[in-house]
Amino acid sequence: MANNRVRFLDTTLRDGEQSAGIGMTGEEKMEIAKQLERLRVDIIEAGFAASSPGDFQAVNNIAKEVKDAQICSLARAHPNDIDQAWEAIKVAQAPRIHVFLSSSEIHVMHQLRKNREEVMELAVSMVERAKGYCNDVEFSPMDATRTEPQYLYDMLEAVIRAGATTINVADTVGYAIPSNFTTLLQDIQERVAGIENVTLSVHCHNDLGLAVSNSLAAVEAGARQIEGCINGIGERAGNASLEEIIMGLDTRRDLFQIDMGIDTTQLYPASRLVSRITGMAVQANKAIVGENAFRHASGIHQDGVLKNRSTYEVMDPARVGVPSNSLVLGKLSGRAGLQSRLEDLGYTLSREEISNVFESFKVLADKKREVTDRDLEILMDEEKREAGEPISYTLDQVHFSSGDHDIPTATVRLHGPDGISTDASTGNGPVDAVCKAIDRVIGSSTRLVDFNVQSISEGLDSIGTVTIRIESAGRTFSGRGASTDIVVASAKAYLSAVNRLLAADDEANSPAIGSTPD
Ligand code: KIV
Ligand code: ZN
Repeated sequence: MANNRVRFLDTTLRDGEQSAGIGMTGEEKMEIAKQLERLRVDIIEAGFAASSPGDFQAVNNIAKEVKDAQICSLARAHPNDIDQAWEAIKVAQAPRIHVFLSSSEIHVMHQLRKNREEVMELAVSMVERAKGYCNDVEFSPMDATRTEPQYLYDMLEAVIRAGATTINVADTVGYAIPSNFTTLLQDIQERVAGIENVTLSVHCHNDLGLAVSNSLAAVEAGARQIEGCINGIGERAGNASLEEIIMGLDTRRDLFQIDMGIDTTQLYPASRLVSRITGMAVQANKAIVGENAFRHASGIHQDGVLKNRSTYEVMDPARVGVPSNSLVLGKLSGRAGLQSRLEDLGYTLSREEISNVFESFKVLADKKREVTDRDLEILMDEEKREAGEPISYTLDQVHFSSGDHDIPTATVRLHGPDGISTDASTGNGPVDAVCKAIDRVIGSSTRLVDFNVQSISEGLDSIGTVTIRIESAGRTFSGRGASTDIVVASAKAYLSAVNRLLAADDEANSPAIGSTPD
């Protein structure tokens, strides 16, 4: 009987984290992993355990806590990588080791600097090593789409004999075109002995903007595992966007006729969460999850949609989990309205959490005419961070002045372990002045390595989120802050990064525990 079940491997936490300029803490990875579990992806590639102690810990924690998905760690074809991957995931209910090794002539010659026979032997011996630990082994020939076909078939046949259970054809540099990718996958199925006994998977990058098209073509050509990332984040131009592939398959079931285990209503909350945590904004016109994906501007379209949504919509926004915005939240709104909207946005809160967030909501609603979904997400982010963050100092007050003829000057008042302290500083701009004033109070000295105004909710009275990365003695710490005022948001972000630095210093000075910078 034909196998019509397509499985999804989400690699937001591994390939997604390879996006330039992002880094996630262990807690943030866990938050995303739990949302992926709600989304019901089949396999979560939780990280690359051997790449750093922090990644090992994050993979291991996810393997311990997330039970409704398989948990996988990436490993190079190195014995130590495979051993580390297994150590990190062996507690999972359904662990998987994912071994990769370059197969294209360009990579073999210029990167691995080995001959083809050596590479072939390495692939086999490392799959055997992984198999010694774990029954479920995925093998990816890296840069498969630029590999000499016969060498690729030979390698795949050899690793299947060695025990690989999933073969992942990696379009590492986004070189494939749907028609030639289809041919390659058909040829693999015709020429590789044993392929019918394993899962054929694809992993498409988006360098030519074709990652989703190639993934959909792969399903038609017989692939039954698709890899990708939420919001299409990842190396360079990113990976295939999982939400687009899933909704393509869902909306065109008539063509694909496949089954999936995905809860599509969790796609929008997943997209928002990944965007908030990574700081990578989702473009407004992005399919499925963009701000404008279900908005109709022209009169003709609006007329059609008012009469019947299907005139100009191929899918129901509710199916993707986009909340319907019929309820406007503002200063007259009550707790129930707030709770209901937060639930639509994917938050599950206790009574106490609702009470806390309601307080902050009221303060914000006093400043803003309308509190939007983005504002609520930022508010929730702040609440959560404040609840979980190591806090030595909190911001009591910040005052600054600047202008084209003024020297930017800031005064800050902080609550610290020794009570309230105030100090002031000038700077080359108001943000610089605020950070220097904070340094003067705390006695800290750091280098600002990244400053990012990440998301601005709608309207002139919007909230801005600032992410800051600081460096001290070779370690980097990030902090985020949100406010209707960008300079205040910057002060919060800087203080949160400095608090993390102080917590790491405390840990380093206590003999029992080591410190792990993010
Ligand atoms: O793009 C790629 O080739 C990868 C492999 C590790 C699967 O990410
Ligand atoms: Zn990749």
